[in-house]
Amino acid sequence: MRGVILREVGKPVEVSDELTVRRPGPGEVRVRLRAAGVCHSDLSMCEGRLPAQLPLVPGHEGAGEVVELGPGVAGPPVGTHVILSWIPPCGNCFFCLGGQPNLCVSVRSAGPPTLSAGGEPAYAGLGVGCFAEESVVDARAVIPIPDDVPFDVAAVVGCAVITGVGAVVNTAKVPPGASVLVIGCGGVGINVIQGAVLAAAAPILAVDRVPGKLEAARAFGATHTTTPDGLIEATKELTEGRGFDYAFEVVGRSATIRQAWKATRRGGTTVVVGAGIVDDMVSFSAAELFATERRLLGCLYGSADVRTGFTRLLRLWRAGRLDLDGLITRRITLDEVGDAFTAMGTGDVIRSLVTF
Ligand code: APR
Ligand code: ZN
Ligand code: ZN
Repeated sequence: MRGVILREVGKPVEVSDELTVRRPGPGEVRVRLRAAGVCHSDLSMCEGRLPAQLPLVPGHEGAGEVVELGPGVAGPPVGTHVILSWIPPCGNCFFCLGGQPNLCVSVRSAGPPTLSAGGEPAYAGLGVGCFAEESVVDARAVIPIPDDVPFDVAAVVGCAVITGVGAVVNTAKVPPGASVLVIGCGGVGINVIQGAVLAAAAPILAVDRVPGKLEAARAFGATHTTTPDGLIEATKELTEGRGFDYAFEVVGRSATIRQAWKATRRGGTTVVVGAGIVDDMVSFSAAELFATERRLLGCLYGSADVRTGFTRLLRLWRAGRLDLDGLITRRITLDEVGDAFTAMGTGDVIRSLVTF
């Protein structure tokens, strides 16, 4: 089959016609991918900023169809349309039982590597490897969705939407009328803005260094926008000098985490949504934490339960309360994933979507 492969960190991705996927083992299913979004975390893995095993088949924001069940796997039946979850909740661990399945620590299916490229083992990115025609995944990583949902809108729900909306609704639990700052208006940040609109937050200030992204931010519901150089001034104006109730960092860098933090009020909350690297340290003075009671929250996969979260988001989309179609600003083939990585840094792209 065809798929995107990264053989060496920092090198461009290639497309191979010589990928093969093994049969699903116990606890696994085989999925035919139908759509997959290009997320910044894919690029970060290819650049070596986030850990990944090589050779890597990236892609973790996908939707498709179940085509084969491993021995003893009860379902979902062949033909079921699914969104892939890059954290499959085991349902039985401390975290799953405690209502935090996004923190599930169960090992992904323990079998041999699912992929090979020209005879050599290859590794599915985040256990799902969506930039290939097929993938064998943990049966708990496939979440059924209704047949009439287009695969392209389903795909973006699998990472950008559940992460962004979840950060607002699950992690921060933003109340109506709260003031919200969003730094970084890419695929995930735009969905933080959509989540803030759903939560009835106001004002919503969106910050990005690319002016085109600010236009998109307004279209998705930001009430105000600025480039980073206007952040301090805009914060003063919009919050009577106090700072925001909630700030969301959706870039994944210490400098922007620090900016978000500084723009919150006494007692305000900063939510770190961006995936940062291991040695990028953020510092806070001990006095600052104590004396101002500011709060700092991490956010993994929107603090969401994918088993109920994906279909809830699709219901909001059906009701016209979430714009999923508008997130897909570019439709590409597997051959264009490398270009999509480049466009992510500079262009006005919200999400590039691979269709198969
Ligand atoms: N200040 C403001 N905006 C910035 C800055 C900065 N210093 N640096 C980058 N940005 C903007 C980019 O212009 C872009 O619009 O942040 C946005 C990031 O968006 P994408 O590249 O589309 O990334 P996305 O897929 O949204 O992921 C964002 O979440 O899942 C993680 O690994 C992912 O850390 C990444 C973050
Ligand atoms: Zn992602
Ligand atoms: Zn678990």
